[in-house]
Amino acid sequence: MALSPIAILGTGAYAPNRILTNEELAQRVETSHDWIVSRTGIRERRVADPGQTTADLATEAAREALANAQITPQDVDLLILATVTPDLDMPATACLVQQKLGIPSGAACFDLNAACTGFLYALDVAWAMLSSGRYRHALVIGAERLSSVLDWEDRTTCVLFGDGAGAVVLGASRRPGSAILASRLHTVAGTAELLHIPGATFSFDPADPKRVIRMKGKEVFKLAVRAMEDVARELLEQQGVSGDQIDCIIPHQANQRIIDSIAQYLKLPLDRFFINLDRYGNTSAASIPIALHEARMQGRVQPGQLVLMVAFGAGLTYGGALVRW
Ligand code: COA
Repeated sequence: MALSPIAILGTGAYAPNRILTNEELAQRVETSHDWIVSRTGIRERRVADPGQTTADLATEAAREALANAQITPQDVDLLILATVTPDLDMPATACLVQQKLGIPSGAACFDLNAACTGFLYALDVAWAMLSSGRYRHALVIGAERLSSVLDWEDRTTCVLFGDGAGAVVLGASRRPGSAILASRLHTVAGTAELLHIPGATFSFDPADPKRVIRMKGKEVFKLAVRAMEDVARELLEQQGVSGDQIDCIIPHQANQRIIDSIAQYLKLPLDRFFINLDRYGNTSAASIPIALHEARMQGRVQPGQLVLMVAFGAGLTYGGALVRW
């Protein structure tokens, strides 16, 4: 018997209450609201409370996605959590979320690190695992507590990032046509040093072992534009779809100027792109699922429409997914 296509059945998102504005940042480092807005588009970001963990953020987003998909935690047999800010080195934060949500013993639960492309990597892996017929419902979460890995004295990075979580439920499609149609994942070889957090036993620069984000912003910017443009074209060509046929593009929310450039290169109107980075900054693996959820809530993604998601991140990883809603 042919297996049903796999679709996104529900979405959810959560951001901590605490808003950190550009003006507040300008009191900590030498920067200004105008500089941050003109170079990035970011106006504010959310920051987790001291006691709030990545698992807490993930759990809130996941609860909403489960309710939206009208399934219970008992129905979930696969949980993949994309993050670069796990609560522990082991076990995986996914195991903590399993417990918090009451997902039954026996479910497969693991973390995945593909940095800001993490959600799209996790979506691809979950799609493949469900398509094998061995799992029924997957919870795919992107959750980050980046405020804990920022150097708050480095104005070239601390203004860019924020905390949050987004989640989707995947399962057998419930509507004719609604399905994940395609996904492509890539990594640019030899670019690991451009954007990294030193580990417990290794740092590219032994004189700088602090476990905070280090980035060569200009190089990342150029590669990001090229990568997202390339993967968007690859997916459209592979699926025989023209840019005009895409109803909504959900790009990784890193920088308004990166999104402007992609729109220009792909010759697509900017209003086709969903953008919320002004309110959240870059939330890494959480960025796309938060944006997807908000796009749905605002009616920007409707049944039957074609949605293209594209992301890039440390690695440098990049990827895209094409979904018929
Ligand atoms: N406030 C004020 N000035 C700042 C600043 C800040 N927050 N951050 C950097 N500057 C300064 C620099 O020190 C530099 O000063 P100098 O000319 O005296 O040396 C000047 O602004 C220009 O810096 P530059 O790095 O050329 O700026 P930029 O236009 O490239 O913008 C980024 C910097 C980080 C915003 C941009 O490179 C970027 O967005 N890169 C991609 C980052 C990204 O998306 N990373 C996440 C990947 S998932």
